[in-house]
Amino acid sequence: MTYTLTTPLYYVNDKPHLGSAYTTLACDALARFQRLKGEEVVLITGCDEHGQKIQRTAEAAGLSPQAHCDRISAQYHQLWQQWQISNDRFIRTSDPRHRRIVHEFFGRVEANGDVVEGRQQGWYCVACEEFKDDPAGALDPQCLVHQRSLEWRDEVNLFFRLSRYQEQIEALIAQPEFIQPASRRREVQNFVAQGLRDFSISRVNLPWGIPVPGHDGHTFYVWFDALLGYLTALLEGQGDGETSEAGLGELSQRGWPAQVHVIGKDILRFHAVYWPAMLLSAGLELPKQVFGHGFLTREGQKMGKSIGNVLDPEALLERCGADAVRWYLLRDIPFGDDGDFQQQRFVDLVNNDLANTVGNMLNRTSAMARRWFEGTVPPAGAAQNADHPLAQAANAAIGLVIPSLETLDFRGAAEASLQLAIAANGFLNIQAPWSLMKKEGNQDQVAADLYAVLEAARLVALLLGPLVPDLSARMLEQLAQAPLNSGPNQTNGTPWLQQLQWGQLAVGSPLPEPAPVMARLELDGPL
Ligand code: MSP
Repeated sequence: MTYTLTTPLYYVNDKPHLGSAYTTLACDALARFQRLKGEEVVLITGCDEHGQKIQRTAEAAGLSPQAHCDRISAQYHQLWQQWQISNDRFIRTSDPRHRRIVHEFFGRVEANGDVVEGRQQGWYCVACEEFKDDPAGALDPQCLVHQRSLEWRDEVNLFFRLSRYQEQIEALIAQPEFIQPASRRREVQNFVAQGLRDFSISRVNLPWGIPVPGHDGHTFYVWFDALLGYLTALLEGQGDGETSEAGLGELSQRGWPAQVHVIGKDILRFHAVYWPAMLLSAGLELPKQVFGHGFLTREGQKMGKSIGNVLDPEALLERCGADAVRWYLLRDIPFGDDGDFQQQRFVDLVNNDLANTVGNMLNRTSAMARRWFEGTVPPAGAAQNADHPLAQAANAAIGLVIPSLETLDFRGAAEASLQLAIAANGFLNIQAPWSLMKKEGNQDQVAADLYAVLEAARLVALLLGPLVPDLSARMLEQLAQAPLNSGPNQTNGTPWLQQLQWGQLAVGSPLPEPAPVMARLELDGPL
């Protein structure tokens, strides 16, 4: 079975921000974990390029919409490469192949009797690309998300008959697994309980969109086309320049349905209600899960251009490195809750957890082993046995990390991995090999103790692989172990789950010159 997961397809109205990086980093960690387990993974990301918002942004920049989209989507593409995101697909909704899939999909929905003409009247937020039911402010209705005026719309559109799917959607969202975290389910259930209304899926007078076949002058509403990007991504050719004529009928061989759509909480309704109904109408399988994560603020404030406090993911990467940012975001914020980016806390956590706890555990132990045991992994003695206290700590950590990652609890996985490093440091402090070594006859004990800590370090490195892949690779290098291969074209070495068994570090294998695996973060001034 293929494990398909998706990030949202990001609007190209502006360059990437930390919110988009956050979802993408989390999806990357999940994709790496699944690949390490041996799953065939398809991680989909990409850009959502149609609609009024983008058309207006392009006009303001004096560019054609296509030229504007080319420019911004290239920035996304490049940013994910810089961050070493392991996406298997990068879909752009202005790609001609996407148009073909949208037309095929629409044909199915129309043939199913789910498209009707209707009059759409209401207040529209162009920034949200969404009609607002109960806008605040009677004279000048405002969008509560964007704090700006809504626009009145009154036009004849095509509607999707969402109302026909009331019962099926109710049954779907009642399944505990479908909307995660559970705390978000209630909000969607309340919305559905009010009665689903048909929603408009076309626009007139909006040239920057995919034309609706058979309905001159109509282009598809951006959300109708954007969601279908997930399908196009699976159906497109898989090599550079390779074209594919695959259609919707082949989706099940190409990795559909998705195991999880990871999104921000603001677009939950589209993914958990509209999207499944569209898929039901087209006779396609439903995604297994929609996970709505929380929003990031910065030092307690909403990030926004007007406040001037937006964190630029490119600058962040350059100044702090991928491991530090990944660790902070995934370790500090329960995935699903809102989170606040605080610079001091960021620096403290990275330095305490990674540089001190994890880094020093490995560094000081391998330095002692090299000095006293001819630069090699010391004889293990009884430390290779499963009843060693660190073997037990390792098993406890593994037993927590795997189910945590399986359920997107990145914080749980990070904490459990860290606990193993804390246990290893604690063990080292109690055993104090530096004192033992001063007295005759303790060599075997010291060897076994150092072995146990080095072995714990190997397991910490393996457990950290999905969350902080570069740090994991540097740790494994210090232990003369092969790096994990969790990227898109993973090769088959010893399976990760097998490597996660205690006692595999080979006695007598050479240890490289110790080098710090994690530099301390020293930031001069605000990010
Ligand atoms: N184009 C649509 C998605 C279509 S999916 C078929 C879209 N794009 S977006 O670029 O505006 O938003 C992408 C994601 O970024 C959303 O999941 C949104 O929740 C998330 N975030 C935007 N700001 C954010 C924060 N400040 N914090 C965390 N996530 C944030 O919506």
